[in-house]
Amino acid sequence: NKKYIKRGVVVREKFTVTSFLKSKIKKEKITVLTAYDYQMAKLVDEAGVDCILVGDSLGMVVLGYENTLEVTVEDMIHHTRAVAKGSNRALIVADMPFLSYHINTEEAVRNAGKIIQKGKAHAVKLEGGIEVIDKIKAIINANIPVLGHIGLTPQSVNVFGGFKVQGKDEKRAKKLIEDAIELEKAGVFGIVLEGIPEKLAKIITEKLTIPTIGIGAGSECDGQVLVINDMLGMFDNFVPKFVKQYANLKDNITNGVKTYIKEVKNKDFPKKEHTFSIDDDVLNKLY
Ligand code: KIV
Repeated sequence: NKKYIKRGVVVREKFTVTSFLKSKIKKEKITVLTAYDYQMAKLVDEAGVDCILVGDSLGMVVLGYENTLEVTVEDMIHHTRAVAKGSNRALIVADMPFLSYHINTEEAVRNAGKIIQKGKAHAVKLEGGIEVIDKIKAIINANIPVLGHIGLTPQSVNVFGGFKVQGKDEKRAKKLIEDAIELEKAGVFGIVLEGIPEKLAKIITEKLTIPTIGIGAGSECDGQVLVINDMLGMFDNFVPKFVKQYANLKDNITNGVKTYIKEVKNKDFPKKEHTFSIDDDVLNKLY
C-alpha cells in the first residue's frame, strides 16, 4: 500500500492492471476479495486489498439465487457502481454474467463497455478458455482489460453436473494448460484458477508471465480470491473446503439483532441518550 503526498494530502497509490503484472515479477502475492455494495467496498478497500471483484456470485450471496445464471448485465452495473463509489485504491473488476458475451463479439464488446461506462469498473472478467477467445480479443481490442477465469467456472455448472473440482484427468488438465496459454496470448492481464488441483495450478502459474489468482487452487498461485461473505463467516449453510473463515459475522449479527429485539420488547431501548428534546414552552403549546 504505497502512499504519496499530493498537494498536502496523503494519497494511496492505485492498484492497476500494470500493478498486477509487476506483482508477479516482484513475487508479491495479489489479494482479491469480492464486494457487492458501497459499504463493504469501502471497508475492504481501506483495509488494503489490491483488487475488488464484483463477482456474479452476487446472484447467490446477495440476491438469493440458486446459482449465477440468473444474474444480468443490469444487476452487475447496479452493484459495480456502488462498489466503485466505495473504493479508492483497489482495481475494480466486474464479472460479465451468463449470456452477456456468448452470442457474438459485438454483444460481448457492447456489454463489457456498459459495465465499464455505467458500472465504473476498471476491467471485466469472463469465464472460459479457447471457446471464448474471440470475444476476449474483441473486448481487449476495445481497450477494456480482461481477467480470465478457468477451471470450475460456475456459469458452466449445468455442463459440469454440479460444482466439481476440474482438471483431475490428463485430458482435462492439458486442456486447462492450453486454455491458460491461449488466454495469455490473447492479452488477458491475469487468470482466475478456480477449483483445480494445487499441482496443476502450480504448472499453469509457472508457464505464464501474467499472474494467476487462485480460489480452491492451492497456495502456488500468484494471488488469492475469496467471496467476502464466505471468508467473514456470514453463512453456515455450506462452507466450501477451500474457504477459511477469518471472522464469524453470522453469530455477531444474530446476537446483535436478538439483543435489539429483546431491548425493544422490554423498553430498554431507546434510552434518554438516544432521543431528542424539545423546549417546554414549545411543548406546552402543542397540548
Ligand atoms: O463470482 C465470483 O465471485 C467469482 C469468484 C469466485 C472468483 O467469480
